[in-house]
Amino acid sequence: MKNAQPVFVAVIGAGGVGKSFLSQLRDLAIRRPSPQLKLCYIATSRKAIYSDDYFAIELDSAVQALAASSKTPRAVPDLLAYLTKAPGKAIIVDNTSSQDVAEAYPAALKAGISIVTPNKKAFSGSYKLWQDIFHAAADSGAKVYHESSVGAGLPVISTLKDLVETGDEVTKIEGVFSGTMSFLFNSFAPVGGGGGKWSDEVKKAKALGYTEPDPRDDLNGLDVARKLTILARLAGLPVESPTSFPVESLIPKELESCSSGDEFLEKLSAFDQKMEEKKASAGDKVVRFVGSIDVASKSVKVGLQTFDPSHPIAALKGSDNIISFYTKRYGSNPLIVQGAGAGGDVTAMGVTADLIKVVAQIA
Ligand SMILES: NC(=O)c1ccc[n+]([C@@H]2O[C@H](COP(=O)([O-])OP(=O)(O)OC[C@H]3O[C@@H](n4cnc5c(N)ncnc54)[C@H](OP(=O)(O)O)[C@@H]3O)[C@@H](O)[C@H]2O)c1
Repeated sequence: MKNAQPVFVAVIGAGGVGKSFLSQLRDLAIRRPSPQLKLCYIATSRKAIYSDDYFAIELDSAVQALAASSKTPRAVPDLLAYLTKAPGKAIIVDNTSSQDVAEAYPAALKAGISIVTPNKKAFSGSYKLWQDIFHAAADSGAKVYHESSVGAGLPVISTLKDLVETGDEVTKIEGVFSGTMSFLFNSFAPVGGGGGKWSDEVKKAKALGYTEPDPRDDLNGLDVARKLTILARLAGLPVESPTSFPVESLIPKELESCSSGDEFLEKLSAFDQKMEEKKASAGDKVVRFVGSIDVASKSVKVGLQTFDPSHPIAALKGSDNIISFYTKRYGSNPLIVQGAGAGGDVTAMGVTADLIKVVAQIA
């Protein structure tokens, strides 16, 4: 690709994942100088850097330059107009969790701008948005890749797509899709017995940075439900939304109305006994928070299930994710993907790998 046109890259979001991505983009641009990857726009919710002549932003100092910039971000329609006029193909890398940015994907794709993102919102929102995104991509030829929206950099979406596109029949997908839930249950109900009090484990997970600032955002199961929605749709089920199937919340009803995460944590110990009972009722098995998709019966669910200690889900360690694909070809031994399902560097790895795939197709 010696004489290939430059590819223009616009990065929205420079938090944990965005910063790791920028560092990986810098290394990628050195390792693969052609086609040239020109970072022409970078923004957080309050600041931006770009120039009207699409001058390449220095990758070594992009984060510092963004912090020092006095420019404000372009509104999404303006950004699309800007990228449409770029002297080459353009890719938006959305490293936010913004619904507004997600809703602009169909317009971006229609305009021929490709999308790479770890943001779950577009793919787990309404089924109409999902259809609009993939119809727009099919019509314009622009690409949309979102590997890191499930299991961070783990090859979950690419594996499922390969299974489906090569004609295998996926019968069931089952796994632990949340690093927070993985950590909580691996330490609350370890194989072999024991484990800490539920409220202590939740506090520990928060102190270690494994939970959202308000742990209820993990314990309500919605994050797992969003990931299941994405996988179910890729497996061919037209799931309407992440609230259209049963999702078990681990927030006691009485604590739903707590005004803060701290108040919730203070009051949580009153419910330790209930969680102890759930642990004890598992008998010789262990309890885990899992998501499952039964493709034949079109059933999707998220919640507590018990597993034999020899089951790979029971044997998970730390905050790892595990996703098992049961298919006709793989028979009774599922294809299993396992490893870290969160963290800036591994999530950005999935984003960068997607960018490489898009560049290979559009440049
Ligand atoms: N971190 C992980 O381990 C992980 C794993 C898998 C997937 N993900 C996904 O990756 C994405 C990024 O996660 P993160 O951990 O990097 O989040 P983060 O640290 O909170 O960073 C989010 C970034 O997006 C910016 N932003 C938010 N709304 C914006 C908007 N409307 N326009 C422009 N910029 C906006 C924020 O800017 P301000 O600071 O100015 O608000 C910030 O720079 C999320 O969708 C997340 O679900 C993350």
